[in-house]
Amino acid sequence: MLSNIPSVIITGASGGIGRAMASRFAGEGYRLFLQGFRQMEALRAFADDLAARSKVPVHVLQADLADYPSVVRMFEEILAVDPAPDVLINNAGTACFGLLQDMSEADYDRVMDTNMKSVFACCRQVLPSMLHRHGGVILNISSIWGSAGSSAEVLYSASKGAVDAFTKALGKELAPSGIRVNAIVCGVIDTPMNDVLSSADKEALAEQIPLGRFGRPEEIADLAWYLSGPGSSYITGQLIRADGAFL
Ligand SMILES: NC(=O)c1ccc[n+]([C@@H]2O[C@H](COP(=O)([O-])OP(=O)(O)OC[C@H]3O[C@@H](n4cnc5c(N)ncnc54)[C@H](OP(=O)(O)O)[C@@H]3O)[C@@H](O)[C@H]2O)c1
Repeated sequence: MLSNIPSVIITGASGGIGRAMASRFAGEGYRLFLQGFRQMEALRAFADDLAARSKVPVHVLQADLADYPSVVRMFEEILAVDPAPDVLINNAGTACFGLLQDMSEADYDRVMDTNMKSVFACCRQVLPSMLHRHGGVILNISSIWGSAGSSAEVLYSASKGAVDAFTKALGKELAPSGIRVNAIVCGVIDTPMNDVLSSADKEALAEQIPLGRFGRPEEIADLAWYLSGPGSSYITGQLIRADGAFL
């Protein structure tokens, strides 16, 4: 925290859930560090609009989170502005549809590095600061497929299963240091990640969800806000599911 303004780092802020979380935290007066990778022009336009509307400082960063040195450089930039960030949300992720027999080693590396190594890398970079002041919150965005497993999404499921285990283990490791670590385990959320599905496929999928619809990014953002704030001060090492009772 710098000058009494709490701060949040949101990875994947150019995507659907990331944007919703950025808007939610801006509304709460947080300084925002928003990371994107390919969609930088759109992210900058979104950030400018958000800064103008909410009057909070917004910093935009570009990094390939699958690449460890890029993550190190990104955190050097962040920590030069705010040496004590309050919240890290590891949200960036990539999908990977297809049968395992058609997956290559490059597919494996892309999915595991983007969805899991990035979480390790970002936590590793933020931790010295959080340990130093004995506080902070880390929130990982996971998927129901991490525990249930999804046919034709084996690598994605494996990467999110790893994020789940990482969250539980790190939550225990960091609790004595006053740092909380949780994950939001999302069901199907209405974002560009699901644009590979046709309208008919989306309708059929929604019918399988007891609440009868996909989740909205804003609903994940509300939960992220709760899990980052004082209302959840006794919750750590947990996987909190938001899936409309799909599983
Ligand atoms: N939508 C769902 O149904 C659903 C369900 C369960 C879990 N989730 C999880 O929720 C998180 C957010 O997903 P979303 O639905 O908001 O998806 P999205 O709209 O596709 O956004 C994905 C975000 O990840 C970033 N990203 C991808 N690869 C990256 C890389 N190598 N380095 C840095 N950033 C990278 C993208 O940045 P650029 O576009 O700028 O490259 C984008 O900001 C993901 O972890 C996803 O697995 C989503």
